[in-house]
Amino acid sequence: DGRRFLVTGGAGYVGSHLVLTLVERGAEVVVMDDLRQGHRGAVPPGVELVQDSIADRRRLAEVFAAWKFDAVFHFAALSLVGESMRDPLRYCSENLSNSLAVADAAVKAGCLRFVLSSTAALFGNPKVVPIPEEAELAPTNAYGDSKLMVEKALGWADQVHGLRSACLRYFNAAGADPQGRIGEDHEPETHLVPLAIGAALGTRPPLTVFGTDYPTPDGTCIRDYVHVLDLADAHIRVLDRLEQASVRYNIGNGTGYSVKQVIEAVERISGRPVPHGFGPRRAGDPAMLVASSARLRQETGWAPRFAALDDIVRTAWDWHSRHPKGYDDRG
Ligand code: UFG
Repeated sequence: DGRRFLVTGGAGYVGSHLVLTLVERGAEVVVMDDLRQGHRGAVPPGVELVQDSIADRRRLAEVFAAWKFDAVFHFAALSLVGESMRDPLRYCSENLSNSLAVADAAVKAGCLRFVLSSTAALFGNPKVVPIPEEAELAPTNAYGDSKLMVEKALGWADQVHGLRSACLRYFNAAGADPQGRIGEDHEPETHLVPLAIGAALGTRPPLTVFGTDYPTPDGTCIRDYVHVLDLADAHIRVLDRLEQASVRYNIGNGTGYSVKQVIEAVERISGRPVPHGFGPRRAGDPAMLVASSARLRQETGWAPRFAALDDIVRTAWDWHSRHPKGYDDRG
């Protein structure tokens, strides 16, 4: 489409699915990723990979000087809720300072369109479900709060520098490219869908269900699983909105599934049992997070193509069963 974008964290799980979508739509993409979590194999051929940390402000300035970007998509961050409750100061400082480094470099280079990978963890234990975009923000974990701090700083950057931002609060990203080119590969892996699939495949230990005494119908946590390619599509749609003003959107399917229902879906799709046991609650986990993406749908025309849990799980299963060790770049 003739536009050029910078994607930080573009070798990671959600970022790489956006990069692939952008390239397929004819955009030019530069990825900045230190490959601490990301994978070289997740970056499509022909896409420039700058293998440096966004904490390096001098390098950021060089990247913004070398290419003129129409917008920056900022994914690179620490993103594990559990880890954030063991090391909250690292989460708050690293996520805030690195995001502000990217925003500052963008402002200085005159690139005034910024899309932030934000999170449903901003909402804590919501009062209204599905959670509307204007719901109160009250994170119950340091990860969520670190993203809230970034969102607030972006508000000031808009007021003072005219940096237009879209803060996209993802619910639970899941699934993989249906053509099997890229997928989910975290180390350590903490996410439910890949852990349940790994347990079914025998490549991971039996799953532990965290908490069976939540105030939900079957006692396990309820989440809104949204396909990574639907997330990617939303990122591209919001760019038009940024021509008018900064925006904040939820991205989710609007339907919640319990941990037990996810296990059952993996069993249905794989045709195998998911070995599992039951354990205590995990710190910082809200009982139920389900999105209302009403504003995103109305204002951008977005609608999920993978609305059904089984369709999401099927694309994840296809990738993991073909790549039981994930990307081959790990020794
Ligand atoms: N779960 C288990 N056992 C496991 C792993 C997860 O029972 O071994 C449960 C969790 O307790 C939770 C659900 O499965 O109830 C989903 O857990 P994930 O770790 O897959 O995802 P989270 O909901 O904790 O977090 C995800 C993203 C966060 C984001 C959050 C917002 O990883 O970045 O969604 O909803 F903040």
